[in-house]
Amino acid sequence: MSFDRQIKIAPSILSADFANFGQEIQAIEAQGADWVHVDVMDGHFVPNLTFGPMAVKAFRPHVKTVMDVHLMISPVDSYIDAYADAGADVLTAHIEAGPHIHRTLQAIRAAGMKAGVALNPGTPAEAVAHLLDLTDLICVMTVNPGFGGQKFIDMTSKIRQLRQMIGDRPVHIEIDGGVDPKTAPLVAEAGADVLVAGSAVFRGGSVENPDVYGKNIKEIRDAAKGTWV
Ligand code: DX5
Ligand code: ZN
Repeated sequence: MSFDRQIKIAPSILSADFANFGQEIQAIEAQGADWVHVDVMDGHFVPNLTFGPMAVKAFRPHVKTVMDVHLMISPVDSYIDAYADAGADVLTAHIEAGPHIHRTLQAIRAAGMKAGVALNPGTPAEAVAHLLDLTDLICVMTVNPGFGGQKFIDMTSKIRQLRQMIGDRPVHIEIDGGVDPKTAPLVAEAGADVLVAGSAVFRGGSVENPDVYGKNIKEIRDAAKGTWV
């Protein structure tokens, strides 16, 4: 995985057809997805439950780009090896999920993955001040995690602050929640480069009608680049 700050669109398969993940992943990639975002929820850290490492491992052969696994689980550390074995490229843990995020990030890298840290809307940018050299991605939640289709919470000042703190380190800023062609330019302008979008990508499309995914992805990308009309 090489590093750049180009805008990357990462559709969240939380909004895909749960009976058809393989084909949905192939469809979004064929339609221009840069990364595939996989939301793991445990019904404990967040009030919703999705899938675990066995399902993520089954997704792996379908993902030709980057498998970006967002853990909304607590505890994290005892599952790191399982997600490495499942083939995650990026593994992101929430800073709020336990007392030892520093150790968690070290363990994710030691297991051979890129290490991400996610911040809930109520968590300040300063919380990652001592983690910047241990992380490859900071995920700024623009909704309270747990469900797709929620209303965007404006975190642009936090994004700007993080962009400054990161400086020239190779650390992505990822935005997760309520990203669509209206909100994408706000977060891109503030310094984000990875845009997760669930409902705004899958809305109106299907594996039988995948062109809609392509149109939705393009609209978000063009909006982020300031070229959407
Ligand atoms: C929220 C998840 C998101 C979610 C985004 O808890 O982490 O990845 O799928 O969904 P939208 O884009 O619909 O807000
Ligand atoms: Zn997510």
